[in-house]
Amino acid sequence: MCGIVGYVGGRKATPILLEGLHRLEYRGYDSAGIAVPHRSRLKVTKAAVRVGELRDLVGDGLPATSGIAHTRWATHGEPTDVNAHPQQDTSKRIAVVHNGILENADELRARLTADGVTFASDTDTEAIAHLVAAALDGAETLEQAVRTALQDVEGAYGIVVMDATRPGELVVARNGSPIVLGVGDGEMFVASDVAALVRYTQSVVYLDDGELATLTADDYRTSTLQARSTAKSPTTVDVDDTDFQLDGYDNFMHKEMHEQPDAIRRALLGRLDERFATARLGGINLDARALRAVRSVKFLGCGSAYYAGQIGANLVEELARLPADAEPASEFRYRNPVIDGDTLYVAVSQSGETADTLAAVRELQRKGGQVIGVVNVVGSAIARECGHGVLLHSGPEVSVASTKAVTSMSFSFALLALLLGRVRDLSVANGTRIVQGLATLPDLISDVLATEDEIAKVADRFRDARGMFFIGRVRCWPAAREGAQKLKEISYVHAEAYQASELKHGPLALIDETMPSVVLVPDDELLAKNIGTIEQIKARGGPVIAVTNAELPHGLVDAEIRVPHATRELDPILLTIPLQLFAYHLALRLGRDIDKPRNLAKSVTVE
Ligand code: F6R
Repeated sequence: MCGIVGYVGGRKATPILLEGLHRLEYRGYDSAGIAVPHRSRLKVTKAAVRVGELRDLVGDGLPATSGIAHTRWATHGEPTDVNAHPQQDTSKRIAVVHNGILENADELRARLTADGVTFASDTDTEAIAHLVAAALDGAETLEQAVRTALQDVEGAYGIVVMDATRPGELVVARNGSPIVLGVGDGEMFVASDVAALVRYTQSVVYLDDGELATLTADDYRTSTLQARSTAKSPTTVDVDDTDFQLDGYDNFMHKEMHEQPDAIRRALLGRLDERFATARLGGINLDARALRAVRSVKFLGCGSAYYAGQIGANLVEELARLPADAEPASEFRYRNPVIDGDTLYVAVSQSGETADTLAAVRELQRKGGQVIGVVNVVGSAIARECGHGVLLHSGPEVSVASTKAVTSMSFSFALLALLLGRVRDLSVANGTRIVQGLATLPDLISDVLATEDEIAKVADRFRDARGMFFIGRVRCWPAAREGAQKLKEISYVHAEAYQASELKHGPLALIDETMPSVVLVPDDELLAKNIGTIEQIKARGGPVIAVTNAELPHGLVDAEIRVPHATRELDPILLTIPLQLFAYHLALRLGRDIDKPRNLAKSVTVE
């Protein structure tokens, strides 16, 4: 998704803005641009290029000490030089960078065109520049003009506006697209993601929807769109610049997969109660009585967060014996769902900014549903709007393909299921078994990571496959879905996940010697059934890669990826790890851009 950076202070702005854009590259983009004041005008450089090339175009930069910059992920209008941001009004006095999508863009364009404005680009953003420029007439401040302009704007935006005649000031506004201010000493920053700021400051202010801010080198002032002051103090972010560096790894996905044991240990800290064989989730404002009153649980998330939610639903059903399910938040928000007051809704998101999940939270809250957030990014919209929930503590996740955050999600759901179970019928003995299983999971994940070379060899053997099946049964079915998701998103090899028992109802027709199946075979009560599935595939000539901690009959499968024994309810969490490594090494062998897969963005803040 698009990225925003802005700076006003005493230092040369261009290097800070370009470095900020570089830190946001991981979010995915197709063009980039920058505007800095120069001789009473704004000098705009923008093109459908990577940030490195923009750096070449800008050169050493001008002495300006303020400016705005952007990486664009095309929505309105193709990814061209002219459509790149910043966008300007006709007189070139105003420059705007914008994340989000305006819903009344066509209407605004028609109205402004009728008023004599000629549009230079196909973007919705350009309309904002024209509106602000028009509103400057009669406005005493840029803030006032932006406020007036935004009255005509419908839809999602995070914007930063600059006026050539006020180079020491930036005006920022947020509605549905994240904006964070960075407070420095005699300098102020603004960005769509803390990744662009933490090199310079850890002191941040998150804007809320419907909020606006004016930044000068020494000060910031926040208010609502209706001009009511919202006086906000800065908070400290617990990430720093090293979290966004590769630390010797070739890419962030590799680094983040290897961070999983530590990420889980952090998610575990203080949350296991061995004495009472339960979990402590201090962020959830529900006492034992309220937890007992819950009649069902529903997990809502998108993509991999949704698959983690499916793992969570299975765990809740198994450990707490409560009806539970998961649904893509993107579907839930549009289908006028029946909201049940006794259901605990769990909104799950790494970024905490996914537009569909946020919309589901709002729909739930509007209808009186009880919703908690399970989120990685502190201060994100979903975390703030849910008010209570569980923080994942995975640390920043940069690679588009989610790994450590997804593992922490499933892990946190196991804690939630344990907690819900122990206020119901989960015995002390079984609670203790799960507590011990959770405590040993980080070490088991390290053991799987240590077998990376073996997994890489298997990936190498199957690098020419035109497509693959990922097969799982019951509790491992969501893990199979996550495995297929990882493979398709980073390798572009078609991958489809199926429940083991569903194969014979159709997809078996696709099995032949060119279609490998990755089959999850935990050593559990369904082992014999899974062996039966493998035999069905083998009988049709299909190659089988088993991911297993069971002893399989000799010669049954073509390749085995061994995992250690975990507590059986937690197998799906552990079995996800080799699938990440498998997808990673296959994609590597196919020469893919691991951290920035084509057409994808890290956090999907538009519909
Ligand atoms: C897959 C992936 C996506 C995200 C999804 C939700 O690797 O990264 O499927 O899981 O876009 O994102 P968050 O968790 O930020 O809401």
